[in-house]
Formats: sequence, structure tokens, C-alpha cells
Amino acid sequence: MQDHRIADFLDKITPGDCLDYLPMLEDESIDCFLSDIPYGINLADWDVLHQNTNSALLGQSPAQKGKSAFKRRGKPIQGWSLADRNIPKEYQAWSTLWGSLLYPKMKNGASVFFFGARRTIHRAIIALEDCGFLVKDILAWEKPAAHHRAQRLSGVLAQRGLHAEAKTWDGWRLGNLAPTWEPIAWLFKGYSRTITDNVLEHQLGAINLAACSNHKNPSNFLKAAFKETRLHEAQKPLEILEFLIKLTTCEGQIILDPFMGSGTTAVACRKLQRHFIGFEKDAEMVEIAMQRLQEVNFEIVPKAEIEPGSEILPLFEYERITRRNG
Ligand SMILES: C[S@@+](CC[C@H](N)C(=O)[O-])C[C@H]1O[C@@H](n2cnc3c(N)ncnc32)[C@H](O)[C@@H]1O
Repeated sequence: MQDHRIADFLDKITPGDCLDYLPMLEDESIDCFLSDIPYGINLADWDVLHQNTNSALLGQSPAQKGKSAFKRRGKPIQGWSLADRNIPKEYQAWSTLWGSLLYPKMKNGASVFFFGARRTIHRAIIALEDCGFLVKDILAWEKPAAHHRAQRLSGVLAQRGLHAEAKTWDGWRLGNLAPTWEPIAWLFKGYSRTITDNVLEHQLGAINLAACSNHKNPSNFLKAAFKETRLHEAQKPLEILEFLIKLTTCEGQIILDPFMGSGTTAVACRKLQRHFIGFEKDAEMVEIAMQRLQEVNFEIVPKAEIEPGSEILPLFEYERITRRNG
């Protein structure tokens, strides 16, 4: 029998594997899931979510030395081996692991947002759908810059001494179109009766367009750039997380990010007077995230410690949020 508790994890980034901690949260306690989950594209060790070892995975080719993008070799995706073709299925199985732990923890009507890779996110969406969530939308985040790699085929052929072929294939490239957007899956937990009844009962299910009015007439195509320092190789802009939080939650509600990285979700929550629960298995990243949090001009203090006369921000049943002096 698990010990179900929420106060122990509230407004903290707990170091460790979220699969160990998710079962400890109280059922139906989370108002929003917002996470930049591992994409399963072998970006780094934490992103290898399969057992397949038949390549020079995460090694570096001489051409990759000293590069800030494409620093390591990913898994080949030409599909020559069954084990390679199983990688997406293994990613789906991994998504089912956390998705099934998550489902009972969410309140009815709560939104579930996760970033993902264009070529793997569908597996995570199917996994979460199979866990019980419903798909609402797939948002597009237009990135401020896209690392584009598409070698000239004529150059590769010329290096092989195939000069006639190089001429024939002039203008052709080996690669993809510039990847200028990333998907954000938006699912939700179902509810009984109507969405309006759910809003009245759980304060969840409606969208707050007025709070997002600086994004003129927001659509599901989002633009957001980094205004903050980059501390994680997969970091997401604060601005886009703030938008999603304001769109779907009220002050004082609880947002869960079990793959916290450098703490962007936690910083956004604190800036917007929401509570957060975070997990992160890289202890160094937890330190970085805690440092970032200290720089946010808000702190959350236990009710008992609130000074009389301090400026109290919205109510919450566990604690209140108060503004720091200055
Ligand atoms: C895509 S990154 C998140 C980056 C974050 N959005 C930011 O802005 O810094 C995913 C993070 O999940 C962490 N992670 C992966 N598997 C985990 C697990 N089972 N439990 C907790 N953290 C995990 C990784 O260490 C990595 O830092």
C-alpha cells in the first residue's frame, strides 16, 4: 500500500526517478500536467528509452567535434534492423509507464500538455490515450531558430570520386526540411456531465483567453523565444510555459512536471502564483533549478509564517503565496 501525500512534494523539485514518486501523490490532486518529456530521440543518455545497442549511439563522429548542435550520433533510422524499428514501440511502452501512474492523480477536466519530437510524439499520445486521457489538440511551437542539416548530395558523391553522378544530383540534399516547429500534445482527463459543471466543481476545463491577451487572439500556433539564459540542452522558453499555465489554470492550482530539467515549469508556476510538484533524476539539474527558483521574486511560505500585513496573493488550501519585499 502506497503512502499517498501531496504536501511533502509541494513547491519542491524532488531529486530522483519520477516513476518511484508518482504513485505517492494523492489521487485526483493535480490540476495540470505540463512537461517537456524526454523525446526518445537519443539526444543524451536520459533520452535513450530503449534497449537497442546496435549502433555507435551517442558517440561523436569527427565532423561533430566542437559543434554546439548535433553533438552526438543519434540512432540510425533507416530501418535496416528489426531492433531499430522497435525503438518507437519501446518509447510508447515507456510513455505508458508514466501515463498509467499519472492518470489517477489528475482531476477531472485537467489538461495534460507535453512537448515532443515530430517523429516520436504520436507514440506518447497513443500511450496516454490508452491510459484513459482524451486528445484535445496538438499545438505548434514555432522555434526562434532551427538547426538545419541537409548535406549536398553532389558534395558527397564528389568525395567518392563520382563526378558525373555529382552533376546529375546537383541541387539535391540528404536530410529534412528546416525543423522550425515542435509539437505540444494537449490531452485532458474526462469528466462527467458538462464542461460548465466541471468548471464549477473543479475550476478546470475552460480556457482563459483574457489572461493571454498579450498573445493577440491566441491560436494553436504559438511563437515564443528565449529571453532567459540557457541552462539545459533541451530547455524550453519560459514564455510558452507561462502561456499554457495561464490558459488552463487558476492561481493556487497545482501543476505537475515530473521531468523538470532546469526547472522552467517551476519558475513559470512561481511567477504566476501556481503551486508545482517537480521531479528530476539529474541531481546537478536539480541544483540549477533550485538556483533559478531563488531568483524568482516570489516565495511560498507556510500559512503559519505569514507576517501580519504582508501582501497576500491568492488563497490555497495548503499554503499561501506572498510577495517578497522589494
Ligand atoms: C527534456 S528535459 C526537460 C528540460 C526542461 N524543460 C527545461 O526547460 O530545462 C527532460 C528531463 O527529464 C529528466 N528525466 C528523464 N527521465 C526521468 C525520470 N524517470 N524521472 C525524473 N526525471 C527524468 C532528464 O534528466 C531531463 O533533465
